Amino acid sequence: MSTPSCDIGLIGLAVMGQNLALNVADHGFRIAVYNRTTATTEKFVADHPDTPGGLQGETTLAGFVQALKRPRKIVILVKAGAATDAVIDGLVPLLEPGDIVIDGGNAQWMDTIRREKTLADQGLRFVGSGVSGGEEGARFGPSLMPGGDPAAYREIEPIWTAIAAKVDPNSGKPLEGAAPGRPVTGGVPCTTYIGPNGAGHYVKMVHNGIEYGDMQMICEAYALMRNLLGMTPPEIAAVFSTWNSGLLDSFLIEITADILQQRDPLTGQPFVDVVLDTAGQKGTGKWTSVNALDMGVPAPTVAEAVFARFLSAVKDERTAAAKILSGPKANFSGDRQHFIDAIHDALYCSKICAYAQGFQLMRHAQTEYGWQLPFGDIAKIWRGGCIIRARFLQKITEAYLRDPNLTNLLLDPYFRGEVDRCQGHWREVVGAAATNGVPAPTFYSALAYYDGYRSERLPASLLQAQRDYFGAHTYERTDQPRGLFFHIDWPVPGRPQIQS
Ligand code: 6PG
Repeated sequence: MSTPSCDIGLIGLAVMGQNLALNVADHGFRIAVYNRTTATTEKFVADHPDTPGGLQGETTLAGFVQALKRPRKIVILVKAGAATDAVIDGLVPLLEPGDIVIDGGNAQWMDTIRREKTLADQGLRFVGSGVSGGEEGARFGPSLMPGGDPAAYREIEPIWTAIAAKVDPNSGKPLEGAAPGRPVTGGVPCTTYIGPNGAGHYVKMVHNGIEYGDMQMICEAYALMRNLLGMTPPEIAAVFSTWNSGLLDSFLIEITADILQQRDPLTGQPFVDVVLDTAGQKGTGKWTSVNALDMGVPAPTVAEAVFARFLSAVKDERTAAAKILSGPKANFSGDRQHFIDAIHDALYCSKICAYAQGFQLMRHAQTEYGWQLPFGDIAKIWRGGCIIRARFLQKITEAYLRDPNLTNLLLDPYFRGEVDRCQGHWREVVGAAATNGVPAPTFYSALAYYDGYRSERLPASLLQAQRDYFGAHTYERTDQPRGLFFHIDWPVPGRPQIQS
């Protein structure tokens, strides 16, 4: 048997796996790769003979495991769920105490908690690491959100730090320009230890919830320009390009401008017009929303973005309803540039609310799962590499530096000031969307969240009275300490009065 020579191994050579393996090898680490289909492994290794670290293809799991230096570090990048369990089950009998299994998929964080415990019981270490940035990120620098055994993370840290995206230490802007075999050097790496067991995957899930919000908000801004202002896709692309050099500077705004300039190669039509308007999803946004409901945390804007995808998916029903249901005809007669600026501000404020909700979720998850999450560092590692990377995240980083225990991002002096400055425009856009029948669910939802959050008194007093009326669910009083519950005998018309 030859001496193990690989620094790390990777199982699962789909697109993300291949790109992450090449990224690792580009940084001088020797990596063993294994895929269930041997032909995929062989082709991948043959196609990349000259990486700085070197790729070593293995055709059996046993051979793969034997190729790794101890403690072994094995990244699994397969479809989240049953496939991950199947790979772990196959691996475990081949491993030795202290070896480290790293799940880089979009795993559900409770699965990660379970897997970490099962492996720990067998003397093995498990790291659940969020990996964001799609294909390009995996290849040239993702944002990495590792959680699990801290000592295990320290073992993989040199590799994680090397392969992560890098940002400028002063501006927080992503450093770009990596090419095959020529990675970006210097800069602040977009990875940090997030916390025990499922913390890394939890934070990645919240990232995705915010991603859903960001994407839907951009779509609403587009819809307002297209349907209310009657602008063409290239005209809207120009607006997004301009926005991309300001406060909204972000990966998603940048790609939106590109997409809106793209023509369909087959018909020459704007590409966006030939794409069927039904959005898919793999479930991470839904998990975020379900978790918000489970923990009782208001995160309506993220949930609204998920529901917007569901609504888009009932295409046949919508097509039929469009012929039956009435509504106003969009008609704009104001100052167009003013309204475009207002849409910018509506998008900006809604985005602040979606991030505020995401951070609220993480704040509550700490109590729920016994974690201490590094909010400032989380904002820092989202500045580069990931799908939600944005200039804006530098400001969130600064907000958590000012106050690591910030109750809500909306309360930070910078963001409070920004919303104060922009909310007139936000309200104007929401009003115009409603008046003209252009659906803008996340813009509405974010505004209602903002107004609800800043309300000392909500009509929940009436709601609680209703509950007490029909179900004797009791109520707390404004003139008594919290936690004391009261009930009154309601005079129900037509029914004898209930005696307490
Ligand atoms: C990322 C992304 C990625 C996600 C896709 C698709 O951070 O790189 O979040 O992990 O899988 O964006 O997600 P949906 O299919 O749910 O839209």
